Amino acid sequence: MPKTKTDSPARVAIAILAAGKGTRLKSKHPKVLHEVGGKPLLAHVIAAATKVVPARNVYAIIGHEADRVRAAVADTGIEFVLQSEQRGTGHALMVARPALASYDIVIVLSGDAPLITAETIETLRAFHISRKAAMTILTADLANPSGYGRIVRKKIGSDDVRAIVEHKNLSPAQQKIREINSGFYAFDAQTLFRHIDKLSTDNPHGEFYLTDMAALLGKAKEAVVAVQAANPAEVLGGNTRADLSEIDQHMRLAKCRQLMAEGVTILFPDTCVIDSEVEVGPDTVIEPFVQLRGKTKVGSDARIGSYSVIIDCEIKDQVLVQTGCVLEHSTIRERASMGPYSHLRPGCEICEDAHVGNFVELKKSRLGRGSKANHLTYLGDSEIGEKVNVGAGTITCNYDGVSKHKTVIEDGVFVGSDSILIAPVRIGKGAYVAAATTVTEDVPPDSLALGRARQIVKQGWAKDKREKAKAQTK
Ligand code: UD1
Ligand code: CA
Repeated sequence: MPKTKTDSPARVAIAILAAGKGTRLKSKHPKVLHEVGGKPLLAHVIAAATKVVPARNVYAIIGHEADRVRAAVADTGIEFVLQSEQRGTGHALMVARPALASYDIVIVLSGDAPLITAETIETLRAFHISRKAAMTILTADLANPSGYGRIVRKKIGSDDVRAIVEHKNLSPAQQKIREINSGFYAFDAQTLFRHIDKLSTDNPHGEFYLTDMAALLGKAKEAVVAVQAANPAEVLGGNTRADLSEIDQHMRLAKCRQLMAEGVTILFPDTCVIDSEVEVGPDTVIEPFVQLRGKTKVGSDARIGSYSVIIDCEIKDQVLVQTGCVLEHSTIRERASMGPYSHLRPGCEICEDAHVGNFVELKKSRLGRGSKANHLTYLGDSEIGEKVNVGAGTITCNYDGVSKHKTVIEDGVFVGSDSILIAPVRIGKGAYVAAATTVTEDVPPDSLALGRARQIVKQGWAKDKREKAKAQTK
């Protein structure tokens, strides 16, 4: 009988198995760094684990490309154990023994099953403690159990488990079993480590299977029980690209449902890609085929048009983003309007009531309150004041082939269409730039800059040309 302390709360560690290569993904990247819902698989599992126990009691067991995996999640503050040779899920825990042996309970999670929630981990822990079990297995009934280990219970209706049988080893009768092993377990730490060395590599892959602990502990007369996950989708594991896509869909739809519950209108949510950390305020409308990624925040009463891709942006209340905008690492303030087809590269600030229109690209630029750049324009490294009108086709020449230079356009300036602003240059408050001007020198406030060839008109020239051509063809 395992010792579960009743007088003091059990010390619980969470071990996350994350050392495998992920051969079935056919990828050069480690499996647990493949992304679903806009974040690596492992980052989702860590997020759930650290809601249950402090980060210092969470151990990721890493091996394949360990340095990359560690770097990707180092900011979570968890601990790492190196399994330099990956000889199976059982072997992973053998390697982690020095880190885990001093705990009362070890909960094992799988780094490739990212839909797990803190609530379900807590259910597993509570069930395990209440049954005083040596091993508790989280299970689920899946319509398609293919690929998963199956649960062989001692009797129908009993919590006691006889064995976990891996998919490849199923007898014809066992193939009918729909109850699968999630790969999430709670163990009594002392009992686990007392018996773990009995695992063998006597299986088709020659690995130490953690799943064999079920039968092994059973034979040693220890209690091995199963508890079902309330939501079977939570246990889905990502072994193949098809699995990852299914998990991603679950996550995206859950995110859309959460936002809709918070008052956001999402038209055709199946078509939207919204990362898990995105925030959206109430009464905002998200049209079909929108991507909101990274740490994007959208305020309330905004509208995001179809085919817009928005990455790490802050979009304030009542902003209108029309069809087809690509916006990155930028801030768009209240009531501003973007698009259709605008491009913000990183470092832009579009201030209140400003307008950025069709085929306008900005980079590291600030467009002041109520200013407009509505058509076919490039503004790079520029500081634009309030109520400025930037005419169609205006271009800042911010790059001289070696370095970038700044363009400053002060409040109330009118920049005529097709102007070329050669930086560094400053256009003073209230000045006018005549259409098609190439501005190479600073323009003082309230003045007119006009820099283009004077127009010549040759009366009757076109008519003469036509008549000459006619005479030649006769
Ligand atoms: C495993 C279970 C299976 C269960 C399924 C649930 C075993 C033998 N089988 O199968 O019963 O239904 O999970 O998703 O455990 N890993 C290591 N070190 C290793 C090997 C694997 O850390 O030496 C890690 C992997 O990176 C992965 C996790 O353990 O995150 C599970 O390994 P995986 O190969 O995906 O096991 P499955 O075949 O899915
Ligand atoms: Ca797996």
